[in-house]
Amino acid sequence: MAATALKAAASQGTGTTAGAPALLVEGLHAGYGKVQIVHGVSLTAERGQVVVVLGPNGSGKSTFVKAVYGLADQFAGSVKHFGEEISRTAPEVLARRGIGYVPQRDNVFVTLTVQENLDVGLAPVPRAERRERLERVFELFPLLYERRKQPAGTLSGGERQMLAMARALLPQPSVLLLDEPTAALASKVTAHLFQIVRSIADSGVAVVLVEQNARQALQICDWAYVLINGQVAFEGKGRDIAGNQEVVRQVLGEAR
Ligand SMILES: Nc1ncnc2c1ncn2[C@@H]1O[C@H](COP(=O)(O)OP(=O)(O)OP(=O)(O)O)[C@@H](O)[C@H]1O
Ligand SMILES: [Mg+2]
Repeated sequence: MAATALKAAASQGTGTTAGAPALLVEGLHAGYGKVQIVHGVSLTAERGQVVVVLGPNGSGKSTFVKAVYGLADQFAGSVKHFGEEISRTAPEVLARRGIGYVPQRDNVFVTLTVQENLDVGLAPVPRAERRERLERVFELFPLLYERRKQPAGTLSGGERQMLAMARALLPQPSVLLLDEPTAALASKVTAHLFQIVRSIADSGVAVVLVEQNARQALQICDWAYVLINGQVAFEGKGRDIAGNQEVVRQVLGEAR
């Protein structure tokens, strides 16, 4: 897998702070309406890193990434992109800034073909650059090239995740939020997807990866956060988290 398949990404925008992380979340409190789910979560993701968010079902992982992407309510705290405040910013504005998001569910248009799904990701890309961008994602996901004329609804679970990821990569995001891309996939497919995630980060993207396949995710990550009841209960390097008996007892033992 060519780490260079995707040129490191998107402009950092104006008004950014030199040396500031691609994504810096500080003390985020978030939820839905009056219901608070996330209680003061802080997270940092630098370009070139895979940062994993683990935790039991219902611990607030999806709510956390949704809040970062402006899809859940932010009650307090801050979210910064290269030092620039982006709290409570609409998803379409964040997308234009170079933040990509692949939701946990319903992340492809099943009645559209693979190519038509990719065309959605190409929409914001200047016409002259579209072919090259497409070639790069086909390099990363050769299967999608073979399946480009098929409706996305006919793809396997793993192929759908690849399509959703490919579409999110086309605008060349600097930050990519992935919510459980390997849920319900066979472990061999999961391993393959994780290799791709690693290569996406290596090409210069800051990847935030929400996962239930904790053991495998911990092997490819640079840093891991464990959410329990909407709070960071543990954080550390992958191997330290994997070796932490308390985490193993509370979280890894429960992984699907
Ligand atoms: N739209 C919503 N409105 C109100 N509560 C919600 C909404 N979406 C999720 N919740 C609640 O927020 C809590 C956390 O859910 P969330 O989906 O963030 O957990 P998760 O860690 O992603 O779980 P999983 O591993 O199952 O995906 C749950 O109690 C859930 O019922
Ligand atoms: Mg979730």
